[in-house]
Amino acid sequence: MEMKLRKFNPEKDKKAGYRIWKEVGWLEKGKEKVMDIFLKCCDTWVAEINGEAEFLALTTSGTFRYLEEELPFSGITGVTTSRIARKLGLAKEISAYVIAKAAEKGAWISGLGIFEQGFYNLLGYGSGGYEHIIYFDPADLKIDVNFRVPERLYEANYRAIHKSRLNRLKTHGAVSFDDYHSTQAEIKWTKQGFGLGYFDGPNGELTHHFWASNRGGEHGPYFISWLAYQNYDQFLELMALIKSLGDQVRLIGMTEPAEIQLQDFLKYPFRYRIASEKSKYESKMRAASWWQMRICNLEKCLEKTHLQGEEVSFNLELSDPIEEFLAKDTEWKGISGNYIIKLGEQSSALKGKDKSLPTLQTSVGPFTRMWLGVRPATGLAVTEDINAPKDLLKQLNKVFLLPDPKPGWEY
Ligand SMILES: CC(C)(COP(=O)(O)OP(=O)(O)OC[C@H]1O[C@@H](n2cnc3c(N)ncnc32)[C@H](O)[C@@H]1OP(=O)(O)O)[C@@H](O)C(=O)NCCC(=O)NCCS
Repeated sequence: MEMKLRKFNPEKDKKAGYRIWKEVGWLEKGKEKVMDIFLKCCDTWVAEINGEAEFLALTTSGTFRYLEEELPFSGITGVTTSRIARKLGLAKEISAYVIAKAAEKGAWISGLGIFEQGFYNLLGYGSGGYEHIIYFDPADLKIDVNFRVPERLYEANYRAIHKSRLNRLKTHGAVSFDDYHSTQAEIKWTKQGFGLGYFDGPNGELTHHFWASNRGGEHGPYFISWLAYQNYDQFLELMALIKSLGDQVRLIGMTEPAEIQLQDFLKYPFRYRIASEKSKYESKMRAASWWQMRICNLEKCLEKTHLQGEEVSFNLELSDPIEEFLAKDTEWKGISGNYIIKLGEQSSALKGKDKSLPTLQTSVGPFTRMWLGVRPATGLAVTEDINAPKDLLKQLNKVFLLPDPKPGWEY
């Protein structure tokens, strides 16, 4: 069968694009314009079968925060195979291609949200830590700070909203997408969506806000799509605002923000869990590791890695499973190889081998997880393919004592 891979051409491929997304259940009739908006912020690729686009892959550029540093990032924001093109190896092959293209354009890291664990591991991705999604009765919040009357936010405010997300307080692991069309599309996608916020900037900029959807009726449940704030006073004001909905709304769900343990705000977390069990307004906590990442440029990532504690040096024998799926014409060929790694205040990865150093053998996914601080090296060595002397693993545990990485931006 003839298969052709090329850039998306809006004039030629629009209808096929809609059809693919409708077939996979991502697009409802009447929402086609939202897809058009979203594609504006994407590098979009299609594969043709018999002259028709039957596969769509999207990447979106942004930044990734590693401790205090901002690194160039690319998110895979859509991989879809139409109903007639499944199981031809297209998704793997074309995902590998778009990752290579993003790396060639300058992305040092690539990330994505998974549909299931395992598939993207084949391309070198490793799982992030658990994200906690907490559902609570807003009336139950122990917050006694004052809040002011907020401003309503509308879809027309999408540029200000996007800017407020970009300027939010960013911590280790934070992901941001550059182009405001990504926020515009997400706003349009939310059902019964609404936003509230405060324009406290020196020139009236939106400083802190949330965007939410009503997933039910009069009493909710509401779900907070995102929160953005520049400091914790603003965060508390938003939480107090959320609490103010508690006379009417019986349940609010949200992802736990970085650095915060939301359960600290709940009066009787277990009493409410028990009392509301299996109801439409069930207070609960869910945890899921839904995002994965992989390093695409090891030398550059390590140049920006500034770690506390004792310096560690070792040989890294790194394999990269993506190589099996890469087309011949990509310049970027994956990152497998032998490196001498130094970790510390100034870190580095140099090609080569130093016989005086211990050796760690692994592949890109587990290495990325260790570098992000998802789990300590000794634990990863139990569940992942990592071979290294015990002493080296223990040293790595210490040098990679990092905050839990949190993207703070769903994609
Ligand atoms: C996911 C999707 C893109 C895969 O498309 P595809 O072109 O059929 O995929 P490929 O042919 O490249 O790969 C399928 C192979 O991956 C394997 N695979 C699927 N899920 C897997 C997993 N979790 N772990 C390991 N392997 C997996 C399949 O078993 C299959 O292997 P086989 O060919 O040996 O039978 C397609 O099912 C789809 O469009 N789904 C809906 C949209 C979606 O969820 N996209 C992903 C967003 S992140």
